[in-house]
Amino acid sequence: MTDFDKLSEYAAAFVKPENSMLRQMEKKAKQIYIPIMHPSAIAFLQQLIKWKKARRILELGTAIGYSAIRMCLAAGQDAEIITIEREKEMIREAERNIKEQGLTAWIHIVEGDATEDLPAVRDAVPFDLILIDAAKAQYEKLFLKYARYLAPAGIIVTDNVFFHGLVCDIDGVKKKPLHRLVGKVDSYNRFLAERSEFDTIFLTVGDGLAVSTKK
Ligand SMILES: C[S@@+](CC[C@H](N)C(=O)[O-])C[C@H]1O[C@@H](n2cnc3c(N)ncnc32)[C@H](O)[C@@H]1O
Repeated sequence: MTDFDKLSEYAAAFVKPENSMLRQMEKKAKQIYIPIMHPSAIAFLQQLIKWKKARRILELGTAIGYSAIRMCLAAGQDAEIITIEREKEMIREAERNIKEQGLTAWIHIVEGDATEDLPAVRDAVPFDLILIDAAKAQYEKLFLKYARYLAPAGIIVTDNVFFHGLVCDIDGVKKKPLHRLVGKVDSYNRFLAERSEFDTIFLTVGDGLAVSTKK
């Protein structure tokens, strides 16, 4: 069988971030184990934003602001990115990075738990695109909560739906907490496939992307 990780790294080598600071962010994230989006996945997402002319974007899970910055650059001058993060330290780092990129006018970080009611998010609806990239165990809950915040024909993109390939071999995952988590991601994928109000496609890009379009 094809070595998917190898192929993924091969493909990633062709995609370049817009500037050297983003390259530095990629390197730093790798060094200190911050799970930012895979270069191929973010490159695909940028194309999707351009195809759909998505301008109002909601992200669940800011981390250090990497994907928010790259989505903002793809969306252009009329972009409005709202991104939710619950970790204060991440928020501080994301704020620094966003400021350095000169994008503070376009990217708004909302501090809080994405599973809770956040008025700053509610006030900004509807969104053309929502990126779910927060805690994997909460994906289904987050999808159900935020699907109603989508504009007509809006898109929900979920990252890491293949969980490093573990979804194909759940029984082989011996550690109980990890086994439970992989099971949750697998259930989420099945949940997405069953949604009659959305068309979902699962893409072998990065760590797996689910792209769900509202019918
Ligand atoms: C995978 S990282 C996000 C990476 C980021 N989207 C990128 O590619 O640059 C997940 C982030 O989501 C945050 N997070 C997880 N669950 C959350 C929740 N329920 N509410 C807010 N933030 C959450 C974590 O603190 C972490 O920083």
